[in-house]
Amino acid sequence: MSARNDATVEVAYAAAWTPEARARGAVVAIDLDALRANVAAVRERIGGVDVMAVVKADAYGHGLVPCARAALEAGATWLGVALLEEALALRDAGVAGRILGWLAVPGARWADCLERDIDVSVSAIWALDEVREAARATGVRARVHLKADTGLSRNGATPHDWPELVAAARDAELEGLVTVAGVWSHLACADVPTDPSVAEQVAAFERALAVAADAGLHPEVRHLANSAGALGVPEARYDLVRLGIAMYGLTPGDDIGTGDELGLRPVMSLRARLASVKRVAAGSGVSYGHEYVTASDTTLGLVPVGYGDGIPRAARNGGPMLAAGSVRTIAGRVCMDQVVIDLGDSVAEPGDEVVLFGGEGPSADDWATACGTIGYEIVTRIGPRVPRAYLGVTS
Ligand SMILES: Cc1ncc(COP(=O)(O)O)c(C=O)c1O
Repeated sequence: MSARNDATVEVAYAAAWTPEARARGAVVAIDLDALRANVAAVRERIGGVDVMAVVKADAYGHGLVPCARAALEAGATWLGVALLEEALALRDAGVAGRILGWLAVPGARWADCLERDIDVSVSAIWALDEVREAARATGVRARVHLKADTGLSRNGATPHDWPELVAAARDAELEGLVTVAGVWSHLACADVPTDPSVAEQVAAFERALAVAADAGLHPEVRHLANSAGALGVPEARYDLVRLGIAMYGLTPGDDIGTGDELGLRPVMSLRARLASVKRVAAGSGVSYGHEYVTASDTTLGLVPVGYGDGIPRAARNGGPMLAAGSVRTIAGRVCMDQVVIDLGDSVAEPGDEVVLFGGEGPSADDWATACGTIGYEIVTRIGPRVPRAYLGVTS
């Protein structure tokens, strides 16, 4: 892992240091131009297939509404979220266009979604019953996407339950309460395209589509692929791909390629300012538990973000950051509000900028490697104590 030496990147990030961010000593910079470029890059690779921009979980920590808008500007034609509340939040912000919400429990806000023209996913008869009831109550015909479990064993109707679900959905169509707008499923191992389960799931999806067609359903869109599927499994693209992590500029998996190899630019950059710089003697134990001990007289820098801000504790003695001109790793344990780095004999001052990830620094994928996790988790967990600054805003 190395720092990127690109002065233009540094210049762009200066704008992220708003007075609020400077005073806090940390900022999450969100580069909406990079997000747009990533959508365009993926669209280029997948030909004419439509893109659903997945903006659940606050757009993987990048900010729901600005990212949704930027994705639509870049040519995405759908937005996808997990919670119905997330879909409603998009509408509250004035975001138009097709939105799908796919995770709901009994008693979910179906009626609100129908009234706000939000598509909902249905995986079971109980959900279809509630959606029909909401359609009757509101007088609005529901747009549903029936979800088949083709092998992930997460949400979705099993092959055993699918015929009953599609038959009931067809009845609801004939009653005028429902339109089956989509049939869909989700892959378990798309990040490893050669995994036998991928072809098995595509075949299972074909069978589910055939059963739906036999029942008289003619969905507008069939969708199966996430980022990894879109980029690595062409036969899984169907009418629409659900694009999450690649849109945020991170790798969907080593077998698909690194972000750089895929022509993606990281959208999020986490940056901080040193809160303290001091010389300590050789043999000094650093941070709780003294899991790091200085090898020689050295300079320690204090970075004002910790696990209370979403820095994983697993980054102890390993989380990388660009500080005083080099990439260095966290010294010792991650605390709730702060971490320490060993700057050696480099010159540094309180207030100097360090780049934890993004831009000219290490990548969130580098952090994921250091922490034994995935880039998704690194970016999604950065919390609200770190102010966000949006670069490349057009509307
Ligand atoms: C159902 C579903 N589709 C698509 C995605 C997007 O996946 P990715 O971020 O790997 O593109 C997700 C995210 O986890 C998901 O849960």
